[in-house]
Amino acid sequence: MSAPTLTEEARDVTTDEQLFALSDSAAMLVAETVATPCFAYRLDLARERFLSLRSALPERVRLAYAVKSNPGAPLLAELASLGAWFDCASAGEVVAVGTARDEVGWEGGPGGAVPGRMVFAGPAKSESDLRAALAAGARIQVDGIEDVQRLASWHHGGEPLAVNVRVHPLEGVSETASIIGGSGPSAFGVDEEDLPEFVAACAAFPQVRLSGLQVFSASNELDAGRLLANHATALGIGQRLQELLGRDLDLIDLGGGLGIPYAVGSPELDILTLGAGLAELLEANPWFTGNIVLEPGRWVSGPTGVYLTRVVRVKESRGATFAILQGGINHLLRPLMTGQSFPVHAVPDRSLPEPTDDDGEPGPVGERTTYSLAGPLCTSLDRVGTADLGPLRPGDLLVFGQAGAYGFTQAMTNFLSHPVPEQLWLGGTVAAGAP
Ligand SMILES: Cc1ncc(COP(=O)(O)O)c(C=O)c1O
Repeated sequence: MSAPTLTEEARDVTTDEQLFALSDSAAMLVAETVATPCFAYRLDLARERFLSLRSALPERVRLAYAVKSNPGAPLLAELASLGAWFDCASAGEVVAVGTARDEVGWEGGPGGAVPGRMVFAGPAKSESDLRAALAAGARIQVDGIEDVQRLASWHHGGEPLAVNVRVHPLEGVSETASIIGGSGPSAFGVDEEDLPEFVAACAAFPQVRLSGLQVFSASNELDAGRLLANHATALGIGQRLQELLGRDLDLIDLGGGLGIPYAVGSPELDILTLGAGLAELLEANPWFTGNIVLEPGRWVSGPTGVYLTRVVRVKESRGATFAILQGGINHLLRPLMTGQSFPVHAVPDRSLPEPTDDDGEPGPVGERTTYSLAGPLCTSLDRVGTADLGPLRPGDLLVFGQAGAYGFTQAMTNFLSHPVPEQLWLGGTVAAGAP
C-alpha cells in the first residue's frame, strides 16, 4: 500500500459522509491491508481541526488538547508540533506528552523557553500523578484541600506554586446527555457553595497560591449558545473567587465539551459562533485580564478516526435481526455507556443499486433492515448499537465513524483476550511510523 495514495483516497468523501474520516474505497483498502478489526486515523484532519479551532477563538484562549480522548503517540506528536497545550489526567498522559514533545523538539517545560503549556486534572490524583505534573510545569487543577496539602509539602520553589481550583457549579450548567454530570452531586472539584471555606483553608498553605479556576461540567455539547451559557456561569464563579481571594486570577479553564455529531443530519457545533461568543464574554468581564483555557478532546480527535470490523454472522432471533461482528464493546464501549451509537455504514452498501449489468439493466436494490449490532463477547451487553442497513453477509465490512475519540483506549480490550485491534495513523507530518 502506498500511504500517500491512501491519504488522497481518504479525502474523497462526499458531503453526506462527513461523519466518516475515510471514503469507502480508502476503508476497503485499509481493511485489505490491515487485519480487521482495526482503527484508522487521519492526522492531517487532526491538524486541520486543531488549527481551524485555534483560529476561530480569541487570542487570549489557549487550546489544550484533552489527551484522554485519544492518547495515540502519532496524534500527540502532530499536535505537539503545533505548539498545542495539553490537558492531562494521569502521570501516564504526562509522560506520553513529554515523549511527543521530545520527538518534535519542543523546547518547553519548567526550565525551557516556553512555560508548561499543560493543565492537569483528576478527582483522585496519586502522588506519582502530582509529581509528574509538577515536573512537567503543568498548571494543576486542585480538587480539594488534600491536593493543596500535598503540593505544599512537595513544592520547593522560591515562588509559591500557582494552581487552579476546580469548582463544581451549583446551578447554571446544562448537559444534554450526562457524561460529566451537569450540576448534580459530583466527584469533581470543590462544590461552589463550599468555595469560601476552601479559600480560607488554603491560607494555611502559603507555598501554594490559588491563581485560577477550572469549571467543566458538560460534555458533547453541539449548541454554541449552551456552551457559552455554561462558560458565563464559570466566569461568574471566577469573579466571586477573585473577590474572595482579593487578587487577580490569571487563568480560567472552561474545560472541554465541544460536541460532534454522531448521527446523519445532526448539526455541527458552530466554532465561529463559539469564538465570537467567547470574545463577547471576555469583553463583558473586564475584571478578568488573564487567559482562558479550553480543553477539547472529542472535537479534535473524534472525526479523525474510523473503526473497521467485519460481519461474522447474520442471525434472526424471535423477530430481531443480529449482525454479529468481529469486535464489539471490547473495542467500542461508548455506546453501552452513553446509549449513543457511533454512526455506521456497510461496505458494500446493498441498499444502493448495484452497477448496471451488461444489458444496461440496473442491478437489484436490497431492502434495509434494522440490525442489532452484536460483538463477539459472551455477554448480551456486547452491543454497539442498532443500524438500518442494506442486506449484510458474512465478511462485509462495517465502518464506524467519529471513532477517533473515546474509542480504542476507552474500551474493555482485554475482556475475553481477543487480539488488540491495530491502529493505523495516516497523513502525519512528524511522527515516526505515521505514513
Ligand atoms: C477535565 C477534562 N477536560 C477535558 C475533557 C475533554 O472533554 P471533551 O472530549 O468532551 O472535549 C474531559 C473529558 O472527560 C475532562 O474530564
